[in-house]
Amino acid sequence: MNRRPLTVAVVGATGVVGRTMIQVLNEREFPVGELRLLASGRSAGRTLSIDGQTHDIQEATGAAFEGVDIALFSAGAGVSRELAPAAVRCGATVIDNSSAWRMDPEIPLVVSQVNPNDLEGHEGIIANPNCSTMQLVPVLMALRDTVALERVVVDTYQSVSGTGAEALAELEGQIRAHVAGEPKQASVYPHPIAFNALPEIDVFLRNGYTKEEWKVVTESRKILGLPDLRISCTAVRIPVHVSHSEAVHAETRDPITPDRARELFAAVPGVVVQDDPAAHEYPLASEAAGRDEIFVGRVRTDPSIADGRGIAFWVVSDNLRKGAATNAVEIAEVLVDRDWVGHATSRGAQRYRGPVPEEPAGGGTA
Ligand SMILES: NC(=O)c1ccc[n+]([C@@H]2O[C@H](COP(=O)([O-])OP(=O)(O)OC[C@H]3O[C@@H](n4cnc5c(N)ncnc54)[C@H](OP(=O)(O)O)[C@@H]3O)[C@@H](O)[C@H]2O)c1
Repeated sequence: MNRRPLTVAVVGATGVVGRTMIQVLNEREFPVGELRLLASGRSAGRTLSIDGQTHDIQEATGAAFEGVDIALFSAGAGVSRELAPAAVRCGATVIDNSSAWRMDPEIPLVVSQVNPNDLEGHEGIIANPNCSTMQLVPVLMALRDTVALERVVVDTYQSVSGTGAEALAELEGQIRAHVAGEPKQASVYPHPIAFNALPEIDVFLRNGYTKEEWKVVTESRKILGLPDLRISCTAVRIPVHVSHSEAVHAETRDPITPDRARELFAAVPGVVVQDDPAAHEYPLASEAAGRDEIFVGRVRTDPSIADGRGIAFWVVSDNLRKGAATNAVEIAEVLVDRDWVGHATSRGAQRYRGPVPEEPAGGGTA
């Protein structure tokens, strides 16, 4: 990688994703000359200690991006909508973790090992997918490229860190209340999350799906370049701290055996197959936490689909790392490696143009 030191801003630096971003930048020795940590006015003037180093926090304002080369945003869609264009006007390239820009046809939505070439035409904003989509598409890519994908059904079991720091504190509080025999107070989620499973992640749309479920549908289609892929999702929040798990049923055009699927999955960069049911070996949220890989196991034929064209499997990954921070830093690494940090028109490259998304059946957000 070109090691010219860059000025890197992290917006939402005090949050669970922001802190992980700083950690991943350090671990991967990303060429950071100056690290600018930005958060809300509430945190301005405070310091943040990461790996024994103390950093000052500034308020995220338009002016805070002067001189920034790359800005990693993870402070929610509202902040991204307001401040990402300001950062771009200052010359920065934004890698955004929120849902603000993902389905914009002019913004590349990228998983590093699936569609890095889409980065070439960026005009300053690049979107990082939703964490549940992120861990799914590299595995689906392996099927798309060999036996062709016809239909996918995915059910998610998502950790509480996916909602952020406040939700983690709520889960801890409810566990303590339970042990003390007191009522469990819920404010982040509509019901207690401790000892529960909540089939409601993000708001409900008029088509009966939640926005989280619909993100998996539309983002997977965009990243895989399969606008007509038949795909459905049920997203469920469970009381796990870190790592999302997914049960996936895929129907392929050509037959596929479990052995062949394991080979294909293992050949995808960043994907690890863990599949020895006799030894009780399969991906676990607890073991994926803190790791950058996507783990796949429980690979088996889906007998409900004719002619050996059905395959079922279990996918687990750390939602804060590959699901957010690691992929964002991997995108930054591709930009540096290929000399694409600058905006497309300044490099004489063609602007990115992606598919125009369809409205969900039955209308928009409820
Ligand atoms: N958690 C995940 O697994 C995950 C995965 C993919 C994407 N994301 C996305 O990443 C974003 C952050 O998630 P999180 O889980 O890290 O949330 P979090 O722990 O609640 O942190 C939120 C961060 O945003 C900052 N912030 C809030 N309002 C702000 C404002 N007006 N101006 C500037 N900064 C502001 C907060 O700063 P203060 O401390 O000053 O309030 C904090 O640093 C969200 O868009 C989320 O959808 C999360």
